[in-house]
Amino acid sequence: MAGGHPASASARLEARDALLSRLCGQSWPEGVLLDALDLSPALDVLDVGTGDGRLLRELAQRGHAGRVVGVDPTPGPGVQPASSEALPFPGASFDVVLFARVLAHLPDPARALAEARRVLRPGGQVWAAAHGPAHLRVTWATLGQSLAPGDTLPEPASTLTCPLTVTGDDARFLLGTYGKEAEVSPHLFPVQDAAQLLVWRP
Ligand SMILES: C[S@@+](CC[C@H](N)C(=O)[O-])C[C@H]1O[C@@H](n2cnc3c(N)ncnc32)[C@H](O)[C@@H]1O
Repeated sequence: MAGGHPASASARLEARDALLSRLCGQSWPEGVLLDALDLSPALDVLDVGTGDGRLLRELAQRGHAGRVVGVDPTPGPGVQPASSEALPFPGASFDVVLFARVLAHLPDPARALAEARRVLRPGGQVWAAAHGPAHLRVTWATLGQSLAPGDTLPEPASTLTCPLTVTGDDARFLLGTYGKEAEVSPHLFPVQDAAQLLVWRP
């Protein structure tokens, strides 16, 4: 991967996901997440904090027949401008509400979950996904369940992993997407690794 690293957090995340998707051979994380959730095609789905809306596009490409809506305060194309604390929908509008890599970023995640439950139909599902254990720990803390160092993290419903092989150039690029630079020894690469996403029902 050549070139410098994009400045904004969303551009860095997009660049990181694009590299991980190339290394995994699958669209990361939305394709892997949707494979795991295996949503019935008729369900109406709301993706909160959808960002650039790629999960919505992935669902459309899969021929999802139900309503698919995404909201984000900084919306990409086809995304409604709204925040998780005040969802602009009447009660009982959706069958599934998703928070993909979002809960740890919210000012009021408890309020966001209350809103998610309000817009769900009876029997509906809320699913959340986190980048990894550190992100999951922040999410639980923001939900009022602080865990002391060494405490066991609440189990996510599943851990999705996407095996990949990282070269020295990939490692330098990935570090750059976290705003870091480091000497990467050519002797230690390539390395077999995996992208990881934790999925659970809060
Ligand atoms: C790490 S990105 C994840 C984006 C996308 N869900 C994904 O997995 O690629 C976090 C997203 O949360 C959004 N966000 C931040 N504050 C929010 C809020 N109060 N309500 C809804 N979304 C919010 C950001 O704009 C950003 O798009």
